[in-house]
This record gives sequence, structure tokens and C-alpha cells, in this order.
Amino acid sequence: MNNKMNRDIEYVLADRELLGDICEKLGKQITEDYRNSEHPLVFVIVLKGSVYFAADLIRCIPLPCEMEFMKVSSYGAGTETSGFIQVHLDLKRDITNCDVIIIEDIIDSGRTLEKLSHLLEDRGAHSVKCCTLFDKPERRQVDLNADYVGMRIPDEFIVGYGLDYDEKYRNLPYVGVLKPCVYSK
Ligand code: IMP
Ligand code: MG
Repeated sequence: MNNKMNRDIEYVLADRELLGDICEKLGKQITEDYRNSEHPLVFVIVLKGSVYFAADLIRCIPLPCEMEFMKVSSYGAGTETSGFIQVHLDLKRDITNCDVIIIEDIIDSGRTLEKLSHLLEDRGAHSVKCCTLFDKPERRQVDLNADYVGMRIPDEFIVGYGLDYDEKYRNLPYVGVLKPCVYSK
């Protein structure tokens, strides 16, 4: 622990080895589930937090597939299922009749993923499933569950391996819990 960022970490939640094991496990499951599908397989990688996870996960899936990127934000206007999704960067291909797997870094309230999966279903995908590295079930505000979950975690703020606080810490090679004093300053 010798760089400046490490000092802001309370404890390590997932080290490189565990992250690698999670990618292998999820990769095997996805490979098994899609190996006989005749629809084009398209991974929709949600920027920016999912890029490291997606890169490692997809390399564990020896099936023909494509990678697409989207940048979205969701605004929960008040309660429950209200709110909308804003698309900042959209897909570069038509997903009609494709098997889509959305890759997320973490599900918190669930609003982003709920809105995004509806949007992709409305565009005529054959199927839309969600794969998330982390899930904070205690924080859920909508009725949504990912099809593939790397690790369920308690309600703590984590950074690293793509996950940020104020755009920083994404380049930590592990995932750690951020010291509350960093964001309550
Ligand atoms: P939600 O599920 O729509 O509430 O939003 C999920 C998004 O919130 C994720 O894609 C992250 O960008 C962000 N997020 C939620 N919890 C954390 C965390 O613990 N660390 C870093 N980002 C988080
Ligand atoms: Mg973020």
C-alpha cells in the first residue's frame, strides 16, 4: 500500500485474484447459456465504470460476439418507477434480433439498469440480460434483479477496477471500501 490512493481505502473488498475468479465463473455461466443460440451476441458495456470488468469478463467467453458501448444517466424523479434515462453515447449498431447482455459495474438503486433494459427491449432485441460485477441489494428502489451477479456486497461505497468517486480511483487494480472521511469532507 504505497500510493496516495491506497491511503483513502478502508479495506480491500476484492483483490485481483478474486476479481479474476469472478470473471472466470461468470464467463463460464454465460458461455454455457449462449453456446447454442443462433442470435448475434452483443455485449452492451455501460461506461465508464464497467470497462475493466467487461474487458476481463469477455476474454473468458470463447463465443463469437460484439462489444458496444453506452453512456447513460438515470434521474429518479421522486419515487419508485418514475424518472427517465438520458443517453449520452448510444450504440453504433442495430440490435434487432440480437441477444444482448448489459455489463454493469454495480447495481445500487437499480434505476439505471431498469430503464436501460427496457430501452434495449423496445429496440427489438431478441433477449436482454444483465451481468453486474457488484450488487447492493439493500439499496434497491425498483424491482430489478441481474441475471448474472459477481458479488453481493453490503451498503458501502466502493472504488477501484473501474468504479469511481468523483471520477477518481478507477485505476486501482483492486476494489476497496472508501474511507467515509474522503467523501464527507
Ligand atoms: P443505480 O443502480 O441506478 O442507482 O446506479 C448505479 C450506478 O451508481 C453505478 O453504475 C455507479 O456508477 C454508481 N454507484 C453506485 N454505488 C457505487 C459505489 O459504491 N461506488 C461507485 N459507484 C457507485
Ligand atoms: Mg460513477
